[in-house]
Amino acid sequence: MNNEQARNPDYPKNWNQETQASWNSNALNWDAKMGDDGNDFHRLLVRPATERLLGVKVGDRILDIGCGNGIFSRRLASLGAKVVGIDFSEQLIACAIGRTQAQDAIAYQVLDATNETALLELGENSFDAAISAMTLMDMAEIAPLFRALTKLLKPQGCFVFSVMHPCFNNPHISMVAEETESNGEIETRCSIKVEKYLQPTVTYGLALRNQPKPHIYFHRPINLLLGEAFRVGFVLDGLEEPAFPADYPNNYLLSWGGNFSEIPPVLVVRLKLLAA
Ligand SMILES: C[S@@+](CC[C@H](N)C(=O)[O-])C[C@H]1O[C@@H](n2cnc3c(N)ncnc32)[C@H](O)[C@@H]1O
Repeated sequence: MNNEQARNPDYPKNWNQETQASWNSNALNWDAKMGDDGNDFHRLLVRPATERLLGVKVGDRILDIGCGNGIFSRRLASLGAKVVGIDFSEQLIACAIGRTQAQDAIAYQVLDATNETALLELGENSFDAAISAMTLMDMAEIAPLFRALTKLLKPQGCFVFSVMHPCFNNPHISMVAEETESNGEIETRCSIKVEKYLQPTVTYGLALRNQPKPHIYFHRPINLLLGEAFRVGFVLDGLEEPAFPADYPNNYLLSWGGNFSEIPPVLVVRLKLLAA
């Protein structure tokens, strides 16, 4: 299916199945990109903000939703947590298992996080925290996950997730470079042009320049993304918008890096359940 078919209301769609097939096709490329320790996007932006918001304690039982090749599961285990890593891509779970040592306290499971019943089988009231790193914008549905989390988490538990920033890093932005003369010097200025934000959209995109199969992005504006969580009783109690430092080298003129140090490509959020 292409973007035109995706927009056609009469075209038959099974977003979830198609997303799963894409992630299985792209698993080896994704695994190679993330490796054991992650790329700079993960190490400099996603990981530090998530860890600050999460505040892992030794012995915490943590659910890693959409764990990919297990990059964050292994990190949490190294901080002393007991981790359950779930992903609906069998290929990525195989990569995760392959990169994990037997002594790491991690149990991986192939599980579709849009399936509320399957999620609840992980054990109600059994997790101190849950994370989801750069996954919710790849998920066809998020309401079942938020509903399940209200039961999976212990009463003081929190859910920390990161997504591509819906305002500045959504499928409808363009990166812009402009050259001007200022005081006799040539100046290059980079900015983000946002064409769409308010409507949720379903579009094909690339997480990696060389990925074999485009995958689907489910863009949700912040009011809808958090609205799903507020509806089931979560409150927002922490938020970070990490960006690359100004001295971070850009791989290309128009890539996320120091040229965009004032614009965060990632949004990281902590949710807690309202006390009953
Ligand atoms: C961008 S990757 C992020 C992986 C990992 N969290 C990381 O930070 O490297 C998105 C992941 O979400 C998973 N995913 C997407 N939809 C899912 C679903 N419905 N259930 C479980 N996993 C899902 C994909 O298989 C993929 O591993």
